[in-house]
Amino acid sequence: MSTAVKAGLEDVVISTSDICFIDGHQGRLLYYGFDIDDLVAHSTFEEVAYLLWHGMLPSRKELDRHMKALAGARKLPPRLTRLLSAQPKKTVPMDSLRTGVSALSAYDPDPADNSREATLRRAIQLTAQMPTLVAAWERIRHGKTPVAPNPRLSLAANFLYMISGKRPSELAARTLDVALILHADHELNASTFAARVTAATLSDLYAAVTSAIGTLKGPLHGGANEGVMRMIESIAEPARAEGWIKKALADKVRIMGFGHRVYRVEDPRAKHLRRLATELGQQAGKSRYVEILDTVARVVTEQKRIYPNVDLYSGAAYAAMGIPTDQFTPIFAISRIAGWSAHVLEQHAHNRLIRPRAEYTGPTSATYVPIGLRPD
Ligand code: COA
Repeated sequence: MSTAVKAGLEDVVISTSDICFIDGHQGRLLYYGFDIDDLVAHSTFEEVAYLLWHGMLPSRKELDRHMKALAGARKLPPRLTRLLSAQPKKTVPMDSLRTGVSALSAYDPDPADNSREATLRRAIQLTAQMPTLVAAWERIRHGKTPVAPNPRLSLAANFLYMISGKRPSELAARTLDVALILHADHELNASTFAARVTAATLSDLYAAVTSAIGTLKGPLHGGANEGVMRMIESIAEPARAEGWIKKALADKVRIMGFGHRVYRVEDPRAKHLRRLATELGQQAGKSRYVEILDTVARVVTEQKRIYPNVDLYSGAAYAAMGIPTDQFTPIFAISRIAGWSAHVLEQHAHNRLIRPRAEYTGPTSATYVPIGLRPD
């Protein structure tokens, strides 16, 4: 491989972007200049989505209109719910979500329109409907009827309501809202890059988000939070954590929830999720999840000098809310739809086809032998 080839496109800058700034050395993350620490303290997921799509914070009137549009668009077309019901019960939630988003394109009132206005309308629609798709599949796969969305609840509270059929506690709703704020965008992560590659062919938001969901599913990206939960289950007791993780490191196991392509310090999102997972764990009598993770984090940081990323504590918070492990990555998706949409809008505004090259290392003078003349 020549030195010009950057494996995994590491550190390759492929475009400019106004949306998201990551300082991997200081551990800072900004959306349109706003520090995520300030957004966590003062904002909501709905307002952050507005910020990502419009590049500025809304006025009170603009926010009211935006919230109303999001809350009013949550219902699924009845035929789409029937399509979900037709899936085998063992369908993985991320696959169900990918199918649902792709199928929603068939209900678009004007599929030929790829203007900014049409993409914004679709961004609202998908951001509103993806939580309904995820919650509906959770109910259907367990033989239950989907719960109709409640437009009076925030997006986060309504999602928890549609999953369980019960209004969530203030702490659970706020924790999910913060998790959605923290996952909303992260520059050119793999799924956002996939969305931009698709959008750069002048394809539409449904196609871009379908590509992105497929990319987010992998265990090196969004699937890592499910891997963390499986690690917690395997460790089971805080007293076993130190021995378990030391053995895993000695066996050269890749530890989910650690390391990052960009951050060289702790991911700035991890501390917020740790705090909320701790509070929720105490409320739900599941403090041992965070106790296990704290020990794992101490040992991995000491021994490998790699630090917790966003996925380390998010699963512990979701599990304390009673959410099944295989729904953690879909929750990531119902947040990242805000960022994917922002990047598709930006890609379409300054489009050029994304088409890199490969350095060819295969043969150059193969001789074709007809099938009948090839040896058995
Ligand atoms: N556990 C153990 N070792 C890790 C590690 C982890 N989670 N993350 C990185 N490393 C080690 C690698 O073994 C490698 O060591 P080596 O040079 O001695 O072989 C080195 O750190 C660099 O790793 P590499 O895989 O080349 O880095 P990358 O930038 O390609 O990968 C991730 C970044 C995120 C894919 C990687 O850190 C990872 O797999 N993390 C676990 C999955 C995860 O939590 N993903 C969510 C990201 S938000």
